[in-house]
Amino acid sequence: MIFLTTVMVDLPMVVAVVAGLGLLVALAGVGIMWWLRTRSIGVMLAVVVVVAVTATLVGVVAIIMQMIIEGPVKDTVLSVVAVGGLVGLGVAFVLARRVVGESRRLVAAVGLVPFAAPRGLPAELQTIANTLEEAYARERALEGARRELVAWVSHDLRTPLAGMRAMAEALEDGVVSDPETVARYHAQIKLEVERLSSMVDDLFELSRIHAGALRLSRARIGLADLVADTVAGAEPLARAKGVRLTAEAVASVPVEADTGALGRALGNLVINAIRHTPSDRTVALRAGVDDGGMACLSVSDCCGGIPEEDLTRVFEVAFRGEAARTPTAGGGAGLGLAIAQGIVEAHDGVIGVVNDGPGCRFEIRLPLVG
Ligand SMILES: Nc1ncnc2c1ncn2[C@@H]1O[C@H](COP(=O)(O)OP(=O)(O)OP(=O)(O)O)[C@@H](O)[C@H]1O
Ligand SMILES: [Mg+2]
Repeated sequence: MIFLTTVMVDLPMVVAVVAGLGLLVALAGVGIMWWLRTRSIGVMLAVVVVVAVTATLVGVVAIIMQMIIEGPVKDTVLSVVAVGGLVGLGVAFVLARRVVGESRRLVAAVGLVPFAAPRGLPAELQTIANTLEEAYARERALEGARRELVAWVSHDLRTPLAGMRAMAEALEDGVVSDPETVARYHAQIKLEVERLSSMVDDLFELSRIHAGALRLSRARIGLADLVADTVAGAEPLARAKGVRLTAEAVASVPVEADTGALGRALGNLVINAIRHTPSDRTVALRAGVDDGGMACLSVSDCCGGIPEEDLTRVFEVAFRGEAARTPTAGGGAGLGLAIAQGIVEAHDGVIGVVNDGPGCRFEIRLPLVG
């Protein structure tokens, strides 16, 4: 049965009464939400529904009283609002259960090692889970690299130290006494000490880079000058190895850089190139501007190419390309390229390597200044 009652409706008055009462309920709701701000999302959802239903109910009751509606119409309207409110509460309850359940699933997954982001979460929780997964993976990789570095470096320090100790004891006990061997032992000890000090310097530099404590005093410099200085510095090493060193620069190629630091990065590339190039072959340095308008420094050698699987790994700390870490004459600790990368990135640049022709080409790209 449908009850129809004709009443005179003063619309602006109705809107004003409903809006005013709605505002009061909303303010009370915001206050309750603030009070419960650290509680479960489920509780907050319940508050939202209760506020919405109360605002509607209060408005409807006020209007009914204003219009002096009585009897079945009043009961019908109130029932409709009450049923609507109950339906809203039910949906909110289901939603809250899901949100709370999914957050608990995420919290439980975070406790597992290694953390793998659960799938099928609501969008925001899924974003948090994916970001956490990436952060944990990065942290694990860094921790692994750190552990590897400590193991490798202590191995690299222990072997020459054992050799030096044996030589020093032999000299002290007079086990070797012929002048030729004594001189050779002294020279060998001096060489090892120099190698170890340079390794310690490199480790110190690397720890400063990783700690973000690398202080650059940047000034406008020309890459052509940097190339000329690096070639002059590496010339004795190249000559001793019988490697030709060539340099080529188009104009001066201005960049904002710390000459000392960038020179060290380029020097590390050149020393590597000379070390891996057979005698009578060439190592070529170039300074120029690439197609993308970046300043570009490159070092090409004749090393015979780096294995594809190692191309992305050469910049890792302590990577040396061979599985066994037996210290070889002139071999390093695998820190040079990691230092070069740290320095280049501190200059807002990028460093990379490609196999090219008879060897490989290391490239440093830096923003060009006008
Ligand atoms: N020009 C190159 N040609 C071929 N292989 C290279 C070249 N430069 C680097 N590599 C490979 O990358 C590894 C890492 O180089 P990196 O300069 O970091 O360490 P290192 O030269 O072994 O030691 P360090 O620089 O600390 O004295 C090298 O051991 C080598 O295997
Ligand atoms: Mg090196």
